[in-house]
Amino acid sequence: TVAPEIRIYEVGPRDGLQNESKFVPTDIKVELISKIVAAGIKNVESASFVSPKWVKQMSDSVDVMKNIQRVPGVNYPVLVPNLKGYETAKQCNVEEIAIFPAGSEGFSQKNLNCSVEEGLRRFKQVADEAVRDGLRVRGYISCVVGCPYDGPIHPKNIAKITEQWIAMGCYEVSLGDTMGVGTAGSVRRLLHEILTVAKPEQLALHFHDTYGQGLSNLLAGLELGIKTVDSSISGLGGCPYARGASGNLATEDLVYFLYGLGVNTDVDLVKIIEAGRYISNFLGKPTESKVNRVISDR
Ligand code: HMG
Ligand code: MG
Repeated sequence: TVAPEIRIYEVGPRDGLQNESKFVPTDIKVELISKIVAAGIKNVESASFVSPKWVKQMSDSVDVMKNIQRVPGVNYPVLVPNLKGYETAKQCNVEEIAIFPAGSEGFSQKNLNCSVEEGLRRFKQVADEAVRDGLRVRGYISCVVGCPYDGPIHPKNIAKITEQWIAMGCYEVSLGDTMGVGTAGSVRRLLHEILTVAKPEQLALHFHDTYGQGLSNLLAGLELGIKTVDSSISGLGGCPYARGASGNLATEDLVYFLYGLGVNTDVDLVKIIEAGRYISNFLGKPTESKVNRVISDR
């Protein structure tokens, strides 16, 4: 059975935009975040304090964080790759950070320029500081099912990192199918392993939809009791260092899907569709959300 309430964690302003080559000005990013929040979403990953040499699109993250009108009760986490990024995040008074080690060697080298082991060591430094400072820490793990460089990844490797992250103080571990290669079968096998070391409420599902498996993978996870889902407005997203990966599960499609299951999300479908249209119009490309496409065409 699926939980009666699901927490949506919106990653569009970060995961969604980081892969776009057209630079999105700060005021458009800020307006997008505000529209997503106005639609009822309570968790919006809003920025990323990574190296601007690596991801130029996120180079105005300080300005984004300074300009958003923070609504009480809404969580605006940011991605942090190292202590340098953490210092910047602190200057912006963030309450939650997300760290993002890889589950595979090949992707770790491409995305973080270091080994999995070294990545875990660096992220542990960041997490230790953040926990000491009283911030919430969310731990992603990338390439939980398959890696564009190393192929399939064994669930035991991911369970081991999950266990470490929880012991270190992450309130939640988000399982990233970065490439979107998972299927309901591989996701189920992965979760069976992970649920031997973590409770369902400590996990989130972060599915890219490259192979169109996002919603069925999600259902497999929800049926095992997971209550948090990452999605991206308009289905934007992808990692510049995971060549061939497409966007995340679209928030509009997720909201429609959850309505169908009778799950309470407190999100206004019309308003979230408007937010999706706002950003796809700016980017000048069709939305990746099927629900948005159908409704916009009416
Ligand atoms: P590096 O080149 O090995 O590090 O990159 P470095 O320490 O040599 O730094 C290089 C330059 O960047 C230096 O500048 C640093 O000061 C600067 P220079 O001395 O040459 O002028 N720098 C920074 N500047 C601002 N903020 C910082 C920062 N750090 C260094 N925090 C590094 C290592 C980790 C920095 C780099 O590899 C990096 O930024 N990687 C991030 C790549 C990225 O953002 N990928 C996308 C996000 S992950 C994702 O999308 C997956 C996820 O969605 C889950 C899923 O789908 O599975 C989360
Ligand atoms: Mg992602």
